Amino acid sequence: MPLIKSSEKISVTFTLNGIKLSKNIYPRTLLSDFLRYSIGETGTHVGCEHGICGACTIIFNGKPIRSCLMLASQVNGHELTTVEGIVKDKNLDDLRAAFKKHHALQCGFCTSGFLITISSYLNENPEYADEKEIRKILSGNVCRCTGYVGIVDAVLEVIKKRNEHKKNA
Ligand code: FES
Ligand code: FES
Repeated sequence: MPLIKSSEKISVTFTLNGIKLSKNIYPRTLLSDFLRYSIGETGTHVGCEHGICGACTIIFNGKPIRSCLMLASQVNGHELTTVEGIVKDKNLDDLRAAFKKHHALQCGFCTSGFLITISSYLNENPEYADEKEIRKILSGNVCRCTGYVGIVDAVLEVIKKRNEHKKNA
């Protein structure tokens, strides 16, 4: 495999929020920086930049990952979803409404990461979840100002309502 100089751009092709893109990037560019500054998807936030806070969480091939711990060059041939990709998803209207009802955000800095983690979890169609389970699912996302009670309540409410809806369908 030929060596690539850090000063030389390489080409990557990937799918972002359902759209196929090709870009030239420096090989050492972080995926979080690439999304924000090259693509302009600034909903992916950067907090700690070392994998702790979860603000930069995106979906990579169906699973939530930290975009600050990946290089942009690793997206070649893969599928990514950012918060911009789920923001208009009608299937998540209930989650948005529950966040509003339970005051699950204040400054909103962490919210995109939480929404990505939660939407990925909801895609697994959990039959039952209690507070302990939700706190475990959310343990990779840090919120500095709201606290977690409202966020946990919002997720629990969505799961409960979706399961009731399934039962009555
Ligand atoms: S910015 Fe990536 S985990 Fe904090
Ligand atoms: S709402 Fe401010 S950090 Fe979570």
